[in-house]
Amino acid sequence: MKRIAIFSIILLLSFSMVFAAGAQEGKKKFIGLAMPETHVERWQMDGAALKNAAIALGYDAEVAYGDADQTKQNAQVSDFITKGANLLIIGSINNGVVSAVADARRDGVEVIAYDRLIMDTDQYDYYITFDNFKVGQFQGKAIVEALDLAHATTAKPKHITLFAGSPTDNNAFYFFDGAMSELRPYVEKGVLKIVGPAPLQSSDTANFTRIATENWRADLAKQRMENLLNGDAKNYYLDAVLAPNDTLARAIIEALLTDAKYINNIPVVTGQDGEVASIKFIRDGKQAMTVFKDTRDLAAAAIVLADAILKGETPNIPGARLDTQTYNTGKKYIKSYLLEPVNVTKDNYIEVMVDSGYYTADQLR
Ligand code: BGC
Repeated sequence: MKRIAIFSIILLLSFSMVFAAGAQEGKKKFIGLAMPETHVERWQMDGAALKNAAIALGYDAEVAYGDADQTKQNAQVSDFITKGANLLIIGSINNGVVSAVADARRDGVEVIAYDRLIMDTDQYDYYITFDNFKVGQFQGKAIVEALDLAHATTAKPKHITLFAGSPTDNNAFYFFDGAMSELRPYVEKGVLKIVGPAPLQSSDTANFTRIATENWRADLAKQRMENLLNGDAKNYYLDAVLAPNDTLARAIIEALLTDAKYINNIPVVTGQDGEVASIKFIRDGKQAMTVFKDTRDLAAAAIVLADAILKGETPNIPGARLDTQTYNTGKKYIKSYLLEPVNVTKDNYIEVMVDSGYYTADQLR
């Protein structure tokens, strides 16, 4: 009798433990992570880092990649909402995302715009990114220094050609304007000549469109560089090419290396993201620099922000600067948390990219 009593107590206890665990499981909040694409390497790192950070803070999380197709991403977002997501972190593709953001708001699901501002809507409140203007400034400064523009003359000007990122990505405008804030004074002095379309700022829409690269597609950048080499740039030696990110930089470098003029005399080409293949190019002297935006930091910061929002607390994001005056969707200013990008060259790539554990020494072999 006694044994039976103990047995049933144990049975009862384990039942209630299973039940409690189940209830706790059921209570876990769910964060949907919608990333824009995989053809640019960083987003795979973002996706993985976001998921890990969310799970580490006790959330359920799932990642979906939109393959640069907004219709596909909207379906993924809608799937997250159906599955009961409490919050969405969205790295968007283009303006088509606004309907998904409106659906989220209607269902009481919070949205954080991740890395890329979501435009033309007032249906969300938070944005987390790196200082995008500063990314461009690093690129511009690298060119100013490498070409020693401070000492260039109008008698012997330097030549540059300009590339920008996707016109569907608000960041592309910031990168370009940051870079031109450094380069423009030299263009105006006549010591730096732009070969090809020559917008001095992104608001010169007609010319900006000519240098922009739809959906950050490497094949389009390569094609455009080839066309320039056979056209506008045929009778010049290009000292530099402003490239907005590493994926496009390598495509541009590939095109340059098919031209005998550049094989042993590669122009200064900028980049962004610290992609492994570009770090190798930097080490080998093919690419001048990159701007590293540690996806581990951005992901961790985004999840800390998500956690605060879900708990109704005031966000306090270590390493991020709150800016409420810069990023406007066209409908309202968004509370933006900005992290600091890092300039990477041959001199510091080991320290920044390897010593920090982002890549192993083996990956760079
Ligand atoms: C990101 C860059 C990335 C580019 C292409 C931008 O929005 O900020 O890091 O290289 O998209 O994916």
